[in-house]
Amino acid sequence: MKKIVDLIAEELAGAFENAGYDRSLARVTLSNRPDLCEYQCNGAMAGAKAYKKAPLMIAEDVVKGLSDSEYIEDVQAVKPGFINMKLRKEKLAAYLNEMQEDESLGAEKAKEPRTIIVDYGGPNVAKPLHVGHLRSAIIGESVKRMIRRMGHQVLGDIHLGDWGYQMGLIITELKERKGDLPYFDEAYEGEYPKEAPFTIGELEEIYPAASARAKEDAAYREEALHATYLLQNGHRGYTAVWRHIMNVSVSDLKKNYRNLNVDFDLWKGEADAQEFIPDMIERLKREGYAHVDDGALVIDVQEESDTKEIPPCMIQKSDGASLYGTTDLATLVQRERDYKPDEIVYVVDKRQELHFVQVFRAAKKTGIVPEETKLRFLGFGTMNGKDGKPFKTREGGIMRLENLIADIEDEMYKKISDNRTAGEEEARQTAKIVGLSAIKYGDLSNQAAKDYVFDVDRFTSFEGNTGPYILYTIVRIKSILNKYTEDEASLSGLKVKGAEGESEKALMLEAVKYNEVMETACEELAPHKICAYIYDLANAFNRFYHETKILTEENEERKESYIALLILTKRILESCIDLLGFEAPERM
Ligand code: ARG
Repeated sequence: MKKIVDLIAEELAGAFENAGYDRSLARVTLSNRPDLCEYQCNGAMAGAKAYKKAPLMIAEDVVKGLSDSEYIEDVQAVKPGFINMKLRKEKLAAYLNEMQEDESLGAEKAKEPRTIIVDYGGPNVAKPLHVGHLRSAIIGESVKRMIRRMGHQVLGDIHLGDWGYQMGLIITELKERKGDLPYFDEAYEGEYPKEAPFTIGELEEIYPAASARAKEDAAYREEALHATYLLQNGHRGYTAVWRHIMNVSVSDLKKNYRNLNVDFDLWKGEADAQEFIPDMIERLKREGYAHVDDGALVIDVQEESDTKEIPPCMIQKSDGASLYGTTDLATLVQRERDYKPDEIVYVVDKRQELHFVQVFRAAKKTGIVPEETKLRFLGFGTMNGKDGKPFKTREGGIMRLENLIADIEDEMYKKISDNRTAGEEEARQTAKIVGLSAIKYGDLSNQAAKDYVFDVDRFTSFEGNTGPYILYTIVRIKSILNKYTEDEASLSGLKVKGAEGESEKALMLEAVKYNEVMETACEELAPHKICAYIYDLANAFNRFYHETKILTEENEERKESYIALLILTKRILESCIDLLGFEAPERM
């Protein structure tokens, strides 16, 4: 559906033209003075110079031609040259009814669907998931859903960190503890056990122990580095251990991500890129893209227009080892071969920005990725505690994701239990759903690139700009609709009629913004814009609700119109929270 501002602008364009001015001046925006009008056009000011006329005169000329306009009423030319307008109630109602009939609520799909990969999550296998990975998962999931909603073909790839030094550490520590396992017997030629020699609990204990020891014990660290080297060069026993680590870790990760309502299409990782490295490096050397600098193999990526130095992208260390950048380039080789994506979006901590500038430039320069492929870095800020420092546990340790989620759920459960009628099991289930909204909305309502403070009390509040408030609003609407269907007929076929009250019209005006918000938020991959919108919409609804007797309205036609408006408001809210990656319970 055309956006409402565009429909108004089209009509206004005619009036500009009839009055002898250029049509393109008729740009319409929402009013920034809602007390005076609903929409405004500043075109008269923009045209003043070209027509050598006072803006107010132009505005007045245009307004004259709008006396029997289709869409707008109360049109006024106001000093110094604004055109202020209100939308006709019948048109507003008709637009809402049209939205209601459209399964996408009037939001347009992309004209040319593209193939887009979203690289997000990025957990490091065998290390416990911590809050640092939370942001990537939450933002990435939302971004992926937005891209999918626009009608593109989207693939979410978790890009596991499964090939690094942490693997060497675990192997070394395991050898220390259970040295007689066959993986460590160089002479062993038989089949390795199917069963992993550790549980996820043990694995999570092994890694930090090994990592701590390596920091103190140089010989141990050497051994871990050597184990990493052997693994990366195909050592049979270590590869078998690596597989066990992967299996145990990945099933645990799957469980954790499922709890977060985050779901990946591809479970690829750094290890999957390794097979592409030798040929890639060979070609880059042969074609002169890579050269040796101080013993290392690098690709220059500095460009003339740079105002600061961009160091070369290093692809091989002097000892022959490959690096983070090598893996990312090789992953691009693989993605190009398998999917030929039109775009790849990386949702990663913004402190990695330089790395991605180097990788993107190297990939384009060397033709690993065609010039027209869009590589987009969506860097996010740090999640801080109330003290303004990166979020920690009360004891000052690294907060594990599972514990953080459990804390929030408990907090939610307490709040729900305070005034609940539901049974124990339902209350637990609801606490889970609402708790997730608290975490996700708390994150997504901030611009991704900014740091933010994770404030449990604020995020779990039922009041203010929070996930629970949005869900509470949806549940309130559901409950009214349930009561309505209990004693009356069905919800289908109800139509919105023109608004009577002021808060009713205000709610309608929020609702018609939907497709415009979708367009900008999805285009910019900006979930915070969706949050800002549903907060306004929820506020508009709650104001209307407090000022209106909905179910006791005696005029049947009015009541039906209210209900139709409620149905639409609920659909909009639900469609938006789905893009944010959470859902509403039946009651709370
Ligand atoms: N595993 C990395 C980390 O924890 C994030 C991976 C981001 N994606 C990528 N293609 N490099 O920092």
